[in-house]
Amino acid sequence: MKLYAISDLHLDYKINYEALTTLPTFPEDWLILAGDICCRVEHLRFALANLTKRFAKLLWVPGNHELWNGVAGIIERGEEKYQQLVSVCREFGVYTPEDPYPLWQGEGGTHSLVPLFLLYDYSFRPPHVPLEDAVTWAKESGITCTDEYFLDPYPYTTTVNWCSARCEYSEQRLLEMPANIPKILINHYPLRKDLLY
Ligand SMILES: [Fe+2]
Repeated sequence: MKLYAISDLHLDYKINYEALTTLPTFPEDWLILAGDICCRVEHLRFALANLTKRFAKLLWVPGNHELWNGVAGIIERGEEKYQQLVSVCREFGVYTPEDPYPLWQGEGGTHSLVPLFLLYDYSFRPPHVPLEDAVTWAKESGITCTDEYFLDPYPYTTTVNWCSARCEYSEQRLLEMPANIPKILINHYPLRKDLLY
C-alpha cells in the first residue's frame, strides 16, 4: 500500500487530458493531487472520475490555477470557486483541506495526512523589498505571475488577506491534532523558503 503524489497535470492541454485516461490502475494505493490539475471545474470532475477508479483513495489540494477565473468562461471566483471545487471532490469521496485529516497506515508507517490550502503572501522575497513593492519588483525583472490577472481573492481584498485567513484556519486545526502522530503536510505552495533554491 503506497502513497503517491502528483501535481500540475494541467488538463487544459489536450495531450495531458488524453494521457490521464491511459494511466494504469493502483487498486491498493492512495494518490495525492497536489494542485494545478486544471482551472475548470468540469476538468476536475473528469480527473476525479478517472482517478477514483484507479486508486483506493484520493486527496486533493488546490493550486493557483484551480482558483483562476476570467479565463475559459470561468465566472466563479475566490472563495466561491474554491468551495465549488471542494463540492466536486465530495461528490467523489476525495479528501480536501476542509475534511477530517485521514490517517495513513501503509508503507512508511502511521502518519496523519494533512491537505492544506494556504495560498501565498509574497513573503518569499528579498529582505530589501517591501511587501507593497514585491509585484513591481518582480515585474522589473521581467516576471509577472499570471495570477496577478486571473486569481481574484474575493471576498478577501487581497491574496495576502486570503492567505492569512487560510493560515489561521489551518494552524488552529493543526494545534488540535495529537502531537504523537507524525504529519505529512500537503500544500501546492512552497512552505519553506530554504527548499526553493
Ligand atoms: Fe502552481
